Amino acid sequence: MNYLSERLQAIYKMVPKGMAADIGADHGKLMIALFEGGIVSHGYAVENKKGPYNRLVKALTEKGIENDIVPLFSDGIKDLPEKVHTVIIAGMGGNLIVNILKKYPQKTKQIQTLIVDAHNAIPKVREEVSKLGFVIADEKIVREDEVFYEIIKFVRADVAFYGENDIEFGPILRHEKCATFKEKYENRIHEIDVLLTNKKLPSERIRELSKEKERIESVL
Ligand SMILES: C[S@@+](CC[C@H](N)C(=O)[O-])C[C@H]1O[C@@H](n2cnc3c(N)ncnc32)[C@H](O)[C@@H]1O
Repeated sequence: MNYLSERLQAIYKMVPKGMAADIGADHGKLMIALFEGGIVSHGYAVENKKGPYNRLVKALTEKGIENDIVPLFSDGIKDLPEKVHTVIIAGMGGNLIVNILKKYPQKTKQIQTLIVDAHNAIPKVREEVSKLGFVIADEKIVREDEVFYEIIKFVRADVAFYGENDIEFGPILRHEKCATFKEKYENRIHEIDVLLTNKKLPSERIRELSKEKERIESVL
């Protein structure tokens, strides 16, 4: 798995042994690595667009593993076999991830472990996914080039209650406060300070940015 990007490695490490499905598998790199690493014994790689789907089929057939990691041309979790309880949805916007999870509620119920890498709207993902009956079991933040990625592992549970700071910063990330987490928010504070030097900034925007800075400082 060392050939995977840091982001995909962080996802890889959260996947439990057994069966899994990758929704929006695209190049197929993650599922191929999970299979070759002995983590996923059988799985499904799902794509809803012809281009990525063809690329996926090619990558799996070249490896000769298309019967182990089965490519599915399908919308999100719609056609997932019932035996699949681990789902990965990575490399998409948070709103799309939430839509995929809500679109087929009967199918969502079979998910026990959900690993998500949303590229925006991360607080919304935390809030909406926990409302679907999950708690956050693990979180990692990684930096690739200039971009910070937050990977969240949810597991099925009865009740989840998260306060504002948990939703915004992540219940695990904000307690662990790893170097990458600090770097992300120190960068944001710096950005805010620069924005606040603009004398023409409307007072409403100044208030918003100052509040955001205070909130960040309270968790750092
Ligand atoms: C940017 S790629 C991310 C690829 C890979 N998961 C990663 O993290 O590197 C997002 C992929 O999700 C696919 N996708 C988007 N919506 C989908 C849906 N409803 N069902 C299946 N695939 C979807 C897109 O076609 C695209 O190939």
